[in-house]
Amino acid sequence: MSYTVNTKIQEAFAKDVQEGLSAKFKHIPSKYFYDKTGDSLFQAIMKMPEYYPTRCEYEVFKIQKKRLTAAFQIQNNEIDLIELGAGDGYKTKVLLLHLIETGINVNYIPVDISANVLDILEEGLRKEIPGLKVNGINADYFDALSDLNMISEKQKVILFLGSNVGNLSNDSAIEFFSKIASLCKKGDMLLTGFDFKKDPRVIQLAYDDPTGITRNFNLNLLTRMNRELGANFIVDQFSHYPVYDPISGTAKSFLVSLKKQGVNFQALDKSFHFGKWELVHTEISQKYDLEIISNLAEKSGFNLINNYFDCRFFFVDSLWSSFE
Ligand code: AVJ
Repeated sequence: MSYTVNTKIQEAFAKDVQEGLSAKFKHIPSKYFYDKTGDSLFQAIMKMPEYYPTRCEYEVFKIQKKRLTAAFQIQNNEIDLIELGAGDGYKTKVLLLHLIETGINVNYIPVDISANVLDILEEGLRKEIPGLKVNGINADYFDALSDLNMISEKQKVILFLGSNVGNLSNDSAIEFFSKIASLCKKGDMLLTGFDFKKDPRVIQLAYDDPTGITRNFNLNLLTRMNRELGANFIVDQFSHYPVYDPISGTAKSFLVSLKKQGVNFQALDKSFHFGKWELVHTEISQKYDLEIISNLAEKSGFNLINNYFDCRFFFVDSLWSSFE
């Protein structure tokens, strides 16, 4: 695959920005963070001491890879691993390597909204794990889902890692999981990573690092709109505001307009007004507990097979099947 402009994603971006900035409470979907700059900022976030989820899930895979892959109950020594929102594959590589080393024929299908990160991932994997078949799909994973059962007749394990699910409200998560359940055949499974509720200060800091990397990640949305939609945001006239509510378990990020200002979008042929202190909601990162997780599984038509934890119980990878 090559790094080309995906017109479907570009058109959706224009439409979603137009809708989100016309709303009473302005919002922009978090999936648009991931352009080339956003990808590298997110990779920097994953390396920050404050951002624990990546290292926790890496630990889950390192320590539990045998138990976890045994629970896949792989038939005929071959499997399709489909990863929704694969990113740089840092954690997945642990599982991929283990499966290849145990002689499993793995067909790895990473799906990601960023063509840039998919290119980097595919190139890296070809070098690092030569026996692996890789076929990336550059799409929003909601759109890619319906194509998934056309990939092959083989047994599938769908990976939805890194607490990517946290970007969805619980209702949207149920809708999404139900759709996956309806596409599962006997033997297919879903493995989802969930970030647990924990010391609220630990969570707050993960989205408000003192070095300002997360701030730049959030503000990069403005730069992306300037470049791709011909907008004229003055980036320093907005600030990054993350807030965690430990009761609902919802971390939210906003961009706050520091003054009354107008922003023109050439591509939309439109301007939007931002009042002083007006907020643009850019992300939710939901945190979970075991009760919510088993509830999500049940409401989506899945059976929870097993949970795999890190040693601090900061994170869980939960394995589900839609058949008894
Ligand atoms: C990639 C969606 C799991 O919500 O924790 C990290 C993205 N945003 N810091 C998350 C993110 C700000 C991340 N996910």
